[in-house]
Amino acid sequence: MKNIVYIFVFSIFLSLTSCSDNKSPNYQFMPNMYESVGYEAYSEGELFLNGQSSRLPAQGSVPRGHSPYDYEDTNEDRDRAKAELKNPLPVTEENLAAGKELYAYFCAVCHGDKGDGKGILAQREKFLGIPSYADPGRVINEGGIYHVQMYGLNAMGAFTPQTTPEERWQITMHVLNLKAELEGTPKLVPVSEAEAATAQEEVTASENEQIEE
Ligand code: HEC
Repeated sequence: MKNIVYIFVFSIFLSLTSCSDNKSPNYQFMPNMYESVGYEAYSEGELFLNGQSSRLPAQGSVPRGHSPYDYEDTNEDRDRAKAELKNPLPVTEENLAAGKELYAYFCAVCHGDKGDGKGILAQREKFLGIPSYADPGRVINEGGIYHVQMYGLNAMGAFTPQTTPEERWQITMHVLNLKAELEGTPKLVPVSEAEAATAQEEVTASENEQIEE
């Protein structure tokens, strides 16, 4: 008798579980919890004319981690960048070393390892008019060096797809040092890690204040 009860219970258990498909849930007691009432991202939808549920971000949306650049590709804004734009990164051994390496990849072919405008492409006359960073006819300062990487200038292309803002500032530091070397003026003095950390805290605090305002 006991066996029959066991067999009975077991066969009920089998009948409940055997036909289930592991890939989709069997009984859903609260389907709204599993299946979204709204549209799934990237799925088809009837609400919009093109039949897609995903929309482009609203105009003026700023992606996370993106810092907007407030200067246009015009002569006036290049001058404004030269006058106003300051390097937000602390001058550390690390940043200087990174800038040196990136400069060798991206800039030295034209501007030369020393920044004298005699890179390999200048020597082979592939590009003309590459200036030395010590060119007295130009104002080459941190804001200007960053700006020219954002938009390029005549024969020089922009570097925005290849480099991040942080990398562009690291390169800027190296260019300033090359210029100082060419002109025989003092180079940037790296701060210690601890000083750099305090400076970064101050920047973050003032950014937070701005956000709160
Ligand atoms: C294809 C060659 C080429 C490469 C690569 C290149 N440049 Fe230039 N660069 C030029 C030329 C040409 C000019 C002069 C543009 C003009 O004034 O018409 C110039 C000008 C400049 C100036 C002077 C801008 C001013 O305000 O007068 C700076 C600073 C500069 N480049 C930095 C860089 C940095 C930093 C990189 C690497 C991220 C770089 N360049 C890569 C060709 C190049």
